[in-house]
Amino acid sequence: MYDKTALIDHLLTLVDLQPSGALLDVGCGDGQMLFAASNVFGSSSFFGIDMMPAPIQRAESLSRGESRLSFVIHDVDEGLPCPDGAFDYILCCNVLECIKRKEYLLREMHRVLNAAGKVVISHFDYDTIVFNVTNRDGYRKILHAYSDWKQPWMGECDPWTGRKLWGILNRVPGLFVGEMKSFVLHETEYREGAKGYSFVKEELRDLVKHGAIAPQEYEAFSADVENAVRNNEFFFSINLYTFVGRKVESRACGSESTTTSR
Ligand SMILES: C[S@@+](CC[C@H](N)C(=O)[O-])C[C@H]1O[C@@H](n2cnc3c(N)ncnc32)[C@H](O)[C@@H]1O
Repeated sequence: MYDKTALIDHLLTLVDLQPSGALLDVGCGDGQMLFAASNVFGSSSFFGIDMMPAPIQRAESLSRGESRLSFVIHDVDEGLPCPDGAFDYILCCNVLECIKRKEYLLREMHRVLNAAGKVVISHFDYDTIVFNVTNRDGYRKILHAYSDWKQPWMGECDPWTGRKLWGILNRVPGLFVGEMKSFVLHETEYREGAKGYSFVKEELRDLVKHGAIAPQEYEAFSADVENAVRNNEFFFSINLYTFVGRKVESRACGSESTTTSR
């Protein structure tokens, strides 16, 4: 697990939830984004949905006694278990790649937003992961093996969902108008809690267990990274792409293009 503070801080700069507003996080994991949002937007209410019981149970226990936060276990490929027009804002970070029925989920987001509702939908592009190492071939092999790895909990896997986000939104014209933003998460320190560190120590180790790379390939890559650390040359980065938009009201569908920026 890595510390998501930098990512969350960036995403919350894209949100201007009004007092007493309602915010939905689709695929909220253990609710870190919602906890942070609840500190920034005091009097609003926060609702998180995720299909995995363990993170939702963790979120529920952390939010005990805080009536502004609520969580539900639900597979959003089946739609959103929420009434029409219930929310002012929807956040959805690093989830869309897993969703089989992406267009249906976007229609569901449109349905549960109120007339002035807004969306912040973001995704890493996993093929933009950068490590400053010496063995380019080893790095490329490992990175591509990781990017293309459909983990057991994922309905789908597309490491390019970040760069495809604008196009995915444009497949369902008339739902949202907005623009793309980008953010580079970069790190110069290799330490516990950092994304690059957890990538090497946790995610790539899982990749070895899964059989997608050989143990010696992992060991060579890990040694290459640690050598860069020793030489004070460590650098890691990954790009996050985000669609920031607002709901197009149904009566305007067809007359307002999804690709209109403002
Ligand atoms: C990479 S994590 C991102 C979690 C969180 N949004 C964040 O940025 O920290 C992806 C999350 O999406 C959830 N997820 C994937 N497919 C889902 C589905 N069909 N329905 C609900 N949640 C889903 C996973 O359980 C996981 O918690």
